[in-house]
Amino acid sequence: MSDQKIVFLGTGGTIAGTAANALDHTGLTGYTAAQIGVHDLLASLPDWQEGAERYVVEQVAQLDSKDMGFDVWVKLALRVAHHLAQDDVQGIVITHGTDTLEETAYFLQALLAPSKPVVLTCAMRPANALVPDGPQNLLDALAVASSIGARGVTVVCAGAIYGAEEVQKVHPYRLNAFSAGDAGPIGFVEQGRLRLLRDWPRGKALPLLVGLADAAWPRVEIVMSYAGADGTVVRALLKSGVQGLVVVATGNGTVHQDLESALLMVMQHGVKVVRATRCAEGRLLPGVNDALPAAPGLTPVKARIALILALMQAA
Ligand code: SIN
Repeated sequence: MSDQKIVFLGTGGTIAGTAANALDHTGLTGYTAAQIGVHDLLASLPDWQEGAERYVVEQVAQLDSKDMGFDVWVKLALRVAHHLAQDDVQGIVITHGTDTLEETAYFLQALLAPSKPVVLTCAMRPANALVPDGPQNLLDALAVASSIGARGVTVVCAGAIYGAEEVQKVHPYRLNAFSAGDAGPIGFVEQGRLRLLRDWPRGKALPLLVGLADAAWPRVEIVMSYAGADGTVVRALLKSGVQGLVVVATGNGTVHQDLESALLMVMQHGVKVVRATRCAEGRLLPGVNDALPAAPGLTPVKARIALILALMQAA
């Protein structure tokens, strides 16, 4: 393990949440995310004080991640970029709620494509649960962030390491709430050691960091194709000034004909449209009759982030 610094950035979530009853994991008796500061979460870890001079700890935000927004993403991206640029920083751990964790992870990877490890971690049980999962997730995330050779944005939960592009929350309750679908995890953390199955996330940073704080975020919405879908919502969104639309398509990217007509119409008005699939696994395969462009391999929420970033680059 390197003696370089590890930076911890807190953003809230259940990992920092408290419940009225130590046996309540879901809010049956009252539960609030984002109650305990990241400094306090870390201070309760075993052996924390021994390594304390190695650690830099900052509370970037304190929220339930269902309320995540561009303002926090900007703040977080700028802090991550700042710390990554320091020669004495080995890696970063970000505590985050599970609900939009995959979006923040994808956003940071797409924007920064870091060559050092940036590890998001979380918990499914509040910090004051009888048996909380947050402390072990934090220790596992620390092991990944400290690992020489680790790189890119990853998510660590319940002993597994996932890549930002593939990771998705797939379960509303169980401790192992994430999956990377067909791709599978990058590896596992076992007794503090990494067992890797494939390579770390790689990519190219986007030239958007300078000016990000003042950037205008394009309005990109998500619409879905389903039995009985039509173009009413799409036409309303055009009127309200939408700049991009992700259509959550059926199967291998098919879209109800009435919805598709409306989407083709808004494209004529300059709205960018991409297709993602409703299917939980696999990726869209191209077809000769595709009328709408696809975002292969991205879930709808990640296709939305990719489109937002593409529109920002084009602006
Ligand atoms: C949140 O996403 O902030 C609350 C839920 C969780 O962390 O599991």
